[in-house]
Amino acid sequence: MKITSICCIGAGYVGGPTMAIIAQKCPHIKVTVVDLNEERIAAWNDPDVNNIPIFEPGLSDMVGEARGRNLFFTTEVEKGIDEAQMIFISVNTPTKTYGLGKGMAADLKYIELCARQIASVAKDNKIVVEKSTLPVRTAEAVKNILDNTGNGVQFQILSNPEFLAEGTAVEDLLNPDRVLIGGNDAQAIESLVEIYANWVSRDKILTTNLWSSELSKLTANAFLAQRVSSINALSEVCEKTGADVNEVARAIGMDSRIGSKFLKASVGFGGSCFQKDILNLVYIAKSYGLDEVADYWEQVVIMNDHQKRRFAHKIVQTLYNTVSGKKIAFLGWAFKKDTNDTRESAAIDVADYLLLEQAKVAVFDPKVGEKQVRYDLAYSATNELSNIDKNVTVYQDPYEACKGSHAIAVLTEWDEFKNYDWKRIFDSMHKPAFVFDGRNILDAKKMKEIGFVFSSVGSAY
Ligand code: NAD
Ligand code: UGA
Repeated sequence: MKITSICCIGAGYVGGPTMAIIAQKCPHIKVTVVDLNEERIAAWNDPDVNNIPIFEPGLSDMVGEARGRNLFFTTEVEKGIDEAQMIFISVNTPTKTYGLGKGMAADLKYIELCARQIASVAKDNKIVVEKSTLPVRTAEAVKNILDNTGNGVQFQILSNPEFLAEGTAVEDLLNPDRVLIGGNDAQAIESLVEIYANWVSRDKILTTNLWSSELSKLTANAFLAQRVSSINALSEVCEKTGADVNEVARAIGMDSRIGSKFLKASVGFGGSCFQKDILNLVYIAKSYGLDEVADYWEQVVIMNDHQKRRFAHKIVQTLYNTVSGKKIAFLGWAFKKDTNDTRESAAIDVADYLLLEQAKVAVFDPKVGEKQVRYDLAYSATNELSNIDKNVTVYQDPYEACKGSHAIAVLTEWDEFKNYDWKRIFDSMHKPAFVFDGRNILDAKKMKEIGFVFSSVGSAY
């Protein structure tokens, strides 16, 4: 089937950027992105393209070029489904917060809703593409729903997991390491291959069976997160022994079998997917009785929780075992630089720990506003005692955030933090002035010369 119309259900961090690139690279295809969230769709349609709901370098230009030509954002979900030959499902698949598998399994209710809606609306044959990250064998359930509740039309299911990382989404989509397509039907697979082949060379488009494709996505995230937890585990050894984790990472990263990427020690990984996908893998392993496999992968998340807690405890211990009533400035709230996404950001957990110690937390992030910070803290687990309204202040100016503080914690690796006037900041703080660099981005030597009591992750100094 030559595809000329696509619908994507879900206008989030994956659906929005992915469809913008398809529309930009395939002007012959009409791409309609649908979502139930009216506010989000309105933002995607904002006449000022800089106000689209997701901040990603280069994305607004892509959207600006294709929007209104062959890229459309709408809340008319049924119309979008009806008119499309190929439907991508890009809805969220969060960790279940209730019932069986609570805290581990993926909550597939949004996926099931999509499948039921597609089944009830479709009047002609459609290819349904799983773009969301799903547990292995979900396609079976989707196919079952489509075949048993549909109007007798034919559905082909493909798995096409997304590997983009936030902050580099446009670059990742334009030049992917690979595109993965899993399926059983050769013609359906070829229809999707043809779309990507408009800008990705065919040798980078891998085709597999459905189950390999679904499992490869969980596996990729598990391996990446495992590297971060591995280097973070070593960062604690470095702090005890006088080794420097940056030097260790460089030394091992030059081994071509290990490679240099994903070896940056940090306050801990965040983001909406690493933890959720590993826990999902753990749940799958447990459900097959593979307890050793489950325990092995769960340790990646346990280590990450430890790293976040350890960072917060270090602040408390260094500040003479109390932060009660002390202003602690947070530079960064997003889970990584170049994104406005804060889901599972390490900053939230660190703030949560410090608020329980009665600290006054002052937050500045170049792309995250007050509403989001308060929303995140309201949903974190242990905040009832911490009086967020009174003890958290969100600033629009980094110098104001740091002024009068006892300590600064760097929680996100935004480039601009490196170029601040650190002498001016030092002069405005209580003394001793402490800096805890949770991202290892500041120059330790210079900071100490200014007079800061400086500590980073994974070095004894
Ligand atoms: P998101 O929460 O940003 O977006 C999901 C959107 O789906 C929301 O806007 C929501 O309103 C919409 N939605 C949910 N149910 C709907 C329905 N029935 N009809 C219409 N709209 C509906 O999520 P995301 O970050 O884009 O992630 C989506 C999926 O992609 C997840 O499975 C995630 O694991 C995976 N993924 C995410 C990333 C990433 O960088 N965020 C990368 C790769 C894969
Ligand atoms: C990750 C994967 O990299 C993507 O391939 C995948 O598609 C995506 O998850 C997903 O499925 O959602 P993302 O979470 O956007 O992408 O960002 P990463 O660059 O992977 O960073 C994740 C977290 O790990 C961030 O908090 C980052 O700061 C941290 N990290 C990363 C480190 O602490 N050290 C590193 O060396 C690398």
